[in-house]
Formats: sequence, C-alpha cells, structure tokens
Amino acid sequence: MANKFLFVLTAVLFSITAHAKESAVDNYKTYCVQCHGLKGNGNGVNVRDMSVQPRDHTDAKSMSGRSDEMLFKVIKEGGPSIDKSILMPPWGDTFSDDEIKDLVQHLRQLCKCKFGS
Ligand code: HEC
Repeated sequence: MANKFLFVLTAVLFSITAHAKESAVDNYKTYCVQCHGLKGNGNGVNVRDMSVQPRDHTDAKSMSGRSDEMLFKVIKEGGPSIDKSILMPPWGDTFSDDEIKDLVQHLRQLCKCKFGS
C-alpha cells in the first residue's frame, strides 16, 4: 500500500517537473529568442540594430560567472538591476517567480554550466 502511494506520488512529481521544463522552453522561445537567438547564442533577429549585444547563453565561460540568484534577478528586474544594459527588459510582470526559476534552469541547460564551473 505504502509502495503504491509512493509510486503515484513520484509519478505526479515527475509530471509536474516535466511540465515545468517544457513551459520554460516555450517561454524562452516566445519571449527571449528575438534577442538571444533561437539557439540561445545571442544572435536573434533584433541584434543588428542593438547597441549592446544580448548575452550568448551558450557561452559557459561567462554564464558560469553568474550565480542562479543573479540570473533570477536580471530576468525579473531587467539589465540595470545588475548594472547591465536597459536593452535587457524586466520580466517580473510577465512571469511568476517559479517560471523565472525554471528559465534559470533552462539557461543552465543551454550553457551546460553551473556557477563557478
Ligand atoms: C529586447 C531584447 C531582449 C530580450 C527580448 C531578452 N533579452 Fe536578455 N539580454 C538582452 C541584452 C541586450 C543583454 C545584455 C545586457 C548587457 O550585456 O548589458 C541581455 C542579457 C541577459 C542575461 C545575462 C546578464 C548577464 O550578463 O549575466 C540574461 C540571463 C538574460 N538576458 C535572460 C533573458 C531571458 C530569460 C529572456 C526572455 C524571458 C530575455 N533575456 C529576453 C536583451 C534581451
């Protein structure tokens, strides 16, 4: 009986996590690619006319220099919150904190990196 309960619980948790990742990918595709590029490498359709180029999210070297908290902050509050360009918009009105956390995890998948490595 307990085993069965654990199995169901695991299945439910698994589907919630799977869903969260899926929506972060969708959100990235909808809201971020026009600047950060379809592959996240910083060459979206907008860049030709931008005075500051968007971060290449696949660049492990610079992305590993940022903590998850900093990535969260710059997505939620925009470039100036971490002394970066105003051309990086704030997304706090668009996404919940959980959605922003999922976006941070998605960025970690794009760079295949962690803070400090
Ligand atoms: C209108 C263009 C634009 C859009 C849309 C945009 N960004 Fe950015 N983003 C930028 C620019 C420009 C920078 C670089 C700012 C700088 O270097 O001063 C940047 C930088 C960043 C950084 C890195 C800051 C750093 O240097 O560590 C992160 C993380 C980021 N963006 C995430 C996102 C996410 C997630 C989305 C979608 C929800 C998004 N951006 C949408 C323009 C954009």
